[in-house]
Amino acid sequence: MAQRYLLLLGSLFLGSQFLGSQFLGSLFPGSQFLASPFLGSTAAADETVSYYKQVRPIFQARCQGCHQPAKASGDYVMTTFEQLLKGGESEETAIKPQDSAGSYLVDLITPDAEGKFEMPQGQNAKPLHETEIALIRRWIDAGAIDDTPANARQLFTAENPPQYSLPPVVSSLDFSPDGKLLAVTGFH
Ligand code: HEC
Repeated sequence: MAQRYLLLLGSLFLGSQFLGSQFLGSLFPGSQFLASPFLGSTAAADETVSYYKQVRPIFQARCQGCHQPAKASGDYVMTTFEQLLKGGESEETAIKPQDSAGSYLVDLITPDAEGKFEMPQGQNAKPLHETEIALIRRWIDAGAIDDTPANARQLFTAENPPQYSLPPVVSSLDFSPDGKLLAVTGFH
């Protein structure tokens, strides 16, 4: 008897890989063990969204070209976390932790009924993919946590330049054709 029971559980376990916990739920409504971590199909929607690994790359690729210290369109800088949340010239809070629906940034990236969207801008700008928007919303609703590892934070900025104890090695130098920009490689 015990053996048959185990066999049954075993095949249910296999079944759950394909059919998910809904199937199990219909067999055992309200059953406790369905909640156990090894049986349920962990829906992706329950997983914590990482700012550093998932949200930041979207902003880097699609937004930071226009929203960074050297070019802060709308007076909005997205490269530091504090400013990212705060917003720009409109003085609307761009990101309100736990409130994606009330976050101005979400408003701007979400296409309306006609498919029109405010951000990103630019020629031939395409809206963010709906899965990207969903990811950003989930991250905000979970508290908009900055999980950037300490060793990945930017140590130096224009306001806080590195102090060199020896002249830094310059391995290459170049200037733009119009002579306006000088590019220097360096290490900090
Ligand atoms: C090609 C340039 C460009 C890109 C790319 C871009 N923006 Fe903007 N953004 C602007 C400009 C310009 C403004 C100023 C307001 C306006 O013109 O609508 C602005 C304003 C904003 C504001 C309002 C700031 C404020 O408080 O007034 C937010 C929020 C914003 N952008 C978010 C984003 C997000 C998120 C992305 C990426 C998905 C993005 N932007 C990509 C150019 C850009």
